[in-house]
Amino acid sequence: MALLEIKGLNKLFWADGKEMEVLREINLSIRENEFICFIGPSGCGKTTLLRIIAGLEEPTSGTVSLAGDLITGPGPERGMVFQEYSLFPWRTVLDNIAFGLELKGVPADERRTQSRQYLKMVGLERFEARYPHELSGGMKQRVAIARALVNDPKALLMDEPFGALDAQTRNLMQSELLRIWEEEKKTVVFVTHSVDEAIFLADRIVIMSARPGRVKDVIEIPLPRPRNRTSSEVNKIRDRILCDLRSEIVTS
Ligand SMILES: Nc1ncnc2c1ncn2[C@@H]1O[C@H](COP(=O)(O)OP(=O)(O)OP(=O)(O)O)[C@@H](O)[C@H]1O
Ligand SMILES: [Mg+2]
Repeated sequence: MALLEIKGLNKLFWADGKEMEVLREINLSIRENEFICFIGPSGCGKTTLLRIIAGLEEPTSGTVSLAGDLITGPGPERGMVFQEYSLFPWRTVLDNIAFGLELKGVPADERRTQSRQYLKMVGLERFEARYPHELSGGMKQRVAIARALVNDPKALLMDEPFGALDAQTRNLMQSELLRIWEEEKKTVVFVTHSVDEAIFLADRIVIMSARPGRVKDVIEIPLPRPRNRTSSEVNKIRDRILCDLRSEIVTS
């Protein structure tokens, strides 16, 4: 069943007194519990698309709906994790995670219990009283993931969440995310620049064209997890994606 339905989506921005076409005619059904990755040249509109799904930006035309309801603004059923560390520096780890529950008016005891549960899930139970500046990049992103999950969203929207991490930490975080995704049964919409990351994570990879961003190709990855990053099947998929992306850079 489709959870997110993107129909005839177009987005124009005004920049320097000129109209700029950023997204053109995006049509896509994202299934419940699906892990879908978007990959495409810089500036092709991936973040814009994610922000539209999050309800932070309005489409120029077309619609996005979640479980049949039109998206018209942000909502707790969609949790967002950004590339840049977006924690509140003045709040402890636990209070960062509890933020969404606070907005919902959940009582303090209940907030702490629920937040601790997610803190444990991301392996940071010993760090609840720390502040963001005391954490490594990988730890901060774990907190950001826990903060999104505590609101029990249906969809997790992730914009290059591991882009700033070193290669080792990044691989570890990918495995952790898959474990959480399997436990929590979420739909994950994940933007990345890394072909390897997309192949390791995704059920489907959407390749976008250079701006105006269109859906250029959709690749199913039927391989079982955990995936071997260097198997011949993976290499074949990587070649196809790199070829798709190369032709975008040449023509853009
Ligand atoms: N609020 C805005 N006003 C005007 N132009 C914008 C706005 N937001 C984004 N843009 C432009 O829209 C285009 C797409 O931006 P977007 O951030 O969605 O690209 P992206 O695919 O996420 O790129 P990257 O891979 O570098 O993160 C860019 O040319 C950007 O300058
Ligand atoms: Mg972006």
